[in-house]
Amino acid sequence: MLNFNYPLLQLLILILTFSFPVTLSNHEAIQSLLHRLDSKRALPSVQETAARGVLRRLLPTHLSSFEFKIVSKDVCGGNSCFMINNHKKTRHNGPEIIIKGTTGGVQTSSIPKPGSLPLFKDDGVKIKRPVPWNYYQNVVTSSYSFVWWDWERWEKEVDWMALQGVNLPLAFTGQEAIWQEVFKDFNISSEDLNSFFGGPAFLAWARMGNLHGWGGPLSQNWLDQQLVLQKQIISRMLELGMTPVLPSFSGNVPAALTKIFPSAKITRLGDWNTVDADPRWCCTYLLDPSDPLFVEIGEAFIRKQIKEYGDVTDIYNCDTFNENSPPTSDPDYIATLGAAVYQGISKGDKDAVWLMQGWLFYSDSSFWKPPQMKALLQSVPVGKMIVLDLFAEVKPIWKTSFQFYGTPYIWCMLHNFGGNLEMYGVLDAIGSGPVDARVSANSTMVGVGMCMEGIEHNPIVFELMSEMAFRDEKVKINEWIKSYSHRRYGKAIHQVDAAWEILYHTIYNCTDGIADHNHDYIAMLPDWDPSTNDKSAGMPQAHLWYPPEDVIKALQLFLAGGKNLTGSLTYRYDLIDLTRQVLSKFANQVYIKAIASFQTENIDALHLNSHKFLQLIKDIDLLLASDDNFLLGTWLESAKKLAVNPSELKQYEWNARTQVTMWFDTNETTQSKLHDYANKFWSGILENYYLPRASTYFSHLSESLKHNEKFNLIEWRKQWIPMSNKWQEGNELYPVKAKGDALTISQALYEKYFS
Ligand SMILES: *[C@@H]1O[C@H](CO)[C@@H](O)[C@H](O)[C@H]1NC(C)=O
Ligand SMILES: *[C@@H]1O[C@H](CO)[C@@H](O)[C@H](O)[C@H]1NC(C)=O
Ligand SMILES: *[C@@H]1O[C@H](CO)[C@@H](O)[C@H](O)[C@H]1NC(C)=O
Ligand SMILES: *[C@@H]1O[C@H](CO)[C@@H](O)[C@H](O)[C@H]1NC(C)=O
Ligand SMILES: *[C@@H]1O[C@H](CO)[C@@H](O)[C@H](O)[C@H]1NC(C)=O
Repeated sequence: MLNFNYPLLQLLILILTFSFPVTLSNHEAIQSLLHRLDSKRALPSVQETAARGVLRRLLPTHLSSFEFKIVSKDVCGGNSCFMINNHKKTRHNGPEIIIKGTTGGVQTSSIPKPGSLPLFKDDGVKIKRPVPWNYYQNVVTSSYSFVWWDWERWEKEVDWMALQGVNLPLAFTGQEAIWQEVFKDFNISSEDLNSFFGGPAFLAWARMGNLHGWGGPLSQNWLDQQLVLQKQIISRMLELGMTPVLPSFSGNVPAALTKIFPSAKITRLGDWNTVDADPRWCCTYLLDPSDPLFVEIGEAFIRKQIKEYGDVTDIYNCDTFNENSPPTSDPDYIATLGAAVYQGISKGDKDAVWLMQGWLFYSDSSFWKPPQMKALLQSVPVGKMIVLDLFAEVKPIWKTSFQFYGTPYIWCMLHNFGGNLEMYGVLDAIGSGPVDARVSANSTMVGVGMCMEGIEHNPIVFELMSEMAFRDEKVKINEWIKSYSHRRYGKAIHQVDAAWEILYHTIYNCTDGIADHNHDYIAMLPDWDPSTNDKSAGMPQAHLWYPPEDVIKALQLFLAGGKNLTGSLTYRYDLIDLTRQVLSKFANQVYIKAIASFQTENIDALHLNSHKFLQLIKDIDLLLASDDNFLLGTWLESAKKLAVNPSELKQYEWNARTQVTMWFDTNETTQSKLHDYANKFWSGILENYYLPRASTYFSHLSESLKHNEKFNLIEWRKQWIPMSNKWQEGNELYPVKAKGDALTISQALYEKYFS
């Protein structure tokens, strides 16, 4: 129960709870981990000041309305909890509300003026965490969303984490500076690392050993700047009572290591998504965990981090086997590998706990059968591993793995791929999944988490998921969604409520089991030859899991309620997003008609539909241009702002443009295998990238009909690929400020296409 009549504050609390029925020994191990982590926490006075800092930044008008107090866990019988009460007033203008917890912060949206904050009944509100941890981030979020952030933006994010009660965030920034130091001790020079690290926008994949050198090299300025940033991030996390999760060594090493240690067991991995295995990016080097050097490097890396940051955590992420299977499936061998990986971590920090993304058990389930899974999970001492059930809202592994064979795990929502913008969600599963998992027989669940590849979309999904860290009963979404809409816009408008009700049953009820990745044809134009009669090589499908006409109806209602909400920025954001969603799905139908016209050789219909498709791209660009949250310019300028010289400027802008378009390498006739993986519905990309792409594609279709020839896909690619590469290298400016009125534009587009 976090929403009172008005939704105003939600305390964060980072105290840690523990009544969960893992097997006894695991339970004890987790208990002692919790105690150890408590002992690393900042002093109560530091945390109280940090909580006031959040309030000062978000709600300066109410600085004197609240008081924060850190209390001992004993208040809740040893459990984690927070309490909100009215302050016993002793003087006029004194604080009205007191928030107690082991750590603190406040969330605001439509808050009554100081002096009229609500009165609580009886003893106020008391909320216990049902599970100790609330985890945040995927290992790739650092690249898809955070890559260009400065401290100002990071500070907002850490504030947000505090408000959502996140207490176990990944802290991955700046690790290349640590690697540079570590490898130096192994006689690897900074120059040797130029072909090892990826560019700023591709660090996540270089860290995982998927690629090397792409977008690089990193300048010393970058390395130093990011380390400074990391220290700011970690200190703020600590002040707010969070436990940062630091990286560890997974075996990924620079090529130069093979020369310095010629007898080390180093294998070259296979190709990961390049067009033609160019060794500059392809095929990284993996040091075998069974080689003694593995433990040496692993230990050195942990020690170097402790030296830089202090004794701030015992939890380390390691994903050695992510999209990279061990050479044999022999369980004994896998157990040896797992034990060596853990040894590398624990020699640097004797209390270390290995946190692993459980993605491999889903993505590579043909390799990770029960014996292999069990061997890996049980290769470390009891209680020294925590697994993330990464995609639990759609494909929960806990149900079929005897709860990870006794290993404590965190129920995570994956939700997003590539930082794509698409309205999507599975609210019912989020509102009930964590509760089902926790109360299931012999549950080993120890936390909830958010593991999305990219952020900054679908606020409703993040809101609900965050609440699950504090809810011990399933959420009745029907009721919850009403209160959400009132909190979000500051008032109750019946048409808007009705619209949300529809969205709950359509967009936010995706039950087809398909991982949502925006494949709408505008953003991911099929690289495909429609002349083919081979139906099995059929057109790539866009994801559609609801009747589009229902959602058009929701848009109509949403617009109708708009007269009352013209001043609400959250309403404007949602209106744009919904209009974009409706138009983009509509454009998919138009595209299919265009293709069908081509196949039936109806040139007039082809012209009509292709023109309409192109017009939709322009219209959506115009719509998105009316809100600061949907601008390509923001992304590009934030990248450029980090540069200190012209070559960095050029490099960072190329990195930023490339990640959201081609992503990876191309040759004359082949697009990157990852093209449009991180596609974005941002004003600027539509008009200047998606539009010329679709336009040249349709001209090739039309020309081939005119000349009664087969469509020449290769010719289109030969034209398109250099156009894309030129755009990636470009430096033309894009707006960073919205223009136009979202309500007027959205209304006009609705009428243009649907009335
Ligand atoms: C690094 O180089 C120095 C000087 O050549 C040498 O003494 C040392 O043994 C080398 N260290 C390693 C780990 O190879
Ligand atoms: C581009 O890569 C593709 C796929 O590997 C290959 O078949 C083709 O020959 C390459 N084209 C050129 C021009 O190198
Ligand atoms: C839970 O554990 C008990 C004791 O080990 C076992 O008998 C029971 O079958 C388990 N239940 C499930 C659903 O796994
Ligand atoms: C979501 O879809 C499933 C499958 O069609 C259906 O059973 C369920 O009732 C729907 N839930 C909502 C909230 O509409
Ligand atoms: C919405 O606006 C109309 C007309 O301006 C007004 O009569 C009505 O009271 C408003 N409704 C709400 C809930 O604010």
